[in-house]
Amino acid sequence: MKVVKWGVLSTARIGVEHVIPAIRAIPGCEVSAIASRDGRRAEQAAADLAIPRAFGSYEELLDDDTIDCVYIPLPNALHADWAVRALERGRAVLVEKPLACGGDDARRMAEAAGRSGALLAEAFMYRYHEQFKRVLRYVEDGTLGRVRVVRGAINFRLDDGPDIRLRGELGGGALLDVGCYPLDAMCLLFGSAPTRVQATGTRRGDVDDMCAGLLEFEGGGIGLVDCNFELPWLQAPLEVVGEHGTVRLENAYNPGAGDCRGTLLVEGREPESFVVPGMNMYGALVSSFADSVRTGSRPEYSVEASLATAHAIDLMRGALPLTAGAS
Ligand SMILES: NC(=O)c1ccc[n+]([C@@H]2O[C@H](COP(=O)([O-])OP(=O)(O)OC[C@H]3O[C@@H](n4cnc5c(N)ncnc54)[C@H](OP(=O)(O)O)[C@@H]3O)[C@@H](O)[C@H]2O)c1
Repeated sequence: MKVVKWGVLSTARIGVEHVIPAIRAIPGCEVSAIASRDGRRAEQAAADLAIPRAFGSYEELLDDDTIDCVYIPLPNALHADWAVRALERGRAVLVEKPLACGGDDARRMAEAAGRSGALLAEAFMYRYHEQFKRVLRYVEDGTLGRVRVVRGAINFRLDDGPDIRLRGELGGGALLDVGCYPLDAMCLLFGSAPTRVQATGTRRGDVDDMCAGLLEFEGGGIGLVDCNFELPWLQAPLEVVGEHGTVRLENAYNPGAGDCRGTLLVEGREPESFVVPGMNMYGALVSSFADSVRTGSRPEYSVEASLATAHAIDLMRGALPLTAGAS
């Protein structure tokens, strides 16, 4: 089996704690290099994670022709430029969620991928979890009937402090950080971007720290979303309501490695509670991406799905009045 050689742009927490260990655990994948804006930080991360090479700039890593694919866990506002540079060098690119801060950047990335023929994918790990695939199956096999409403919420408490999520110029804010998960799920479940959005929200400093929206999809589908930096992470539900039934996941987007719980209600049938065994969704994501890089097969989720989500983000942001936050 051809070994897929990965390079990682930055020493971001999500890479160090989850994605790099997941890549290393997949047979036929190797993390060959890591880059940081700070050479010493790159060397330290390389030593800690047993990565053979360290670079003191992202550019140097992209110039290394032995690298097959680049994983980009940079602040959201930097995703597009670095992805385009990597794609222009013919590298396959796995970009952290959200793919970009909006549709213009996302299209620029998709066009660069189209020109180079290299694979571009968004690292929405929740899509690869068996519990979300179960929801997709209930939609595709007709168990729920035509989907009419999708509800999604995701909250966690983010204290003030030096965090990229609180910096507007880096693409911070609750919508881009966590609201993008339910928006993405809605676009996948309805099979398109919304056509119209109403939204409200509050602001902390120069980012949104709460927002809620009502999204209209072609054919009459409705999406209801809310996301928040002010409330505890107790659950992050996804509820899909069809003409014959409803499925609900209790912790849809970042359930960790434990078992996941859900409920299926179908007209005329006993309610069914189900448990989906815990799994490493980062491993499933990386494995799927590496297979496509190795074999040239179509990725499990197309870049068009990410473009729909980027458009939904644009519509939400455009509709937000963003009043001052309560604190
Ligand atoms: N899929 C998931 O489960 C998940 C979870 C969390 C975050 N994410 C996504 O992953 C990305 C990174 O999030 P994170 O929480 O891991 O970020 P983080 O720990 O703050 O790391 C971001 C990294 O970007 C680099 N960087 C480059 N320019 C920067 C700048 N001007 N300011 C700050 N850092 C800069 C830094 O690395 P160097 O100094 O080493 O260059 C920094 O370590 C975001 O897109 C986020 O949405 C995904």
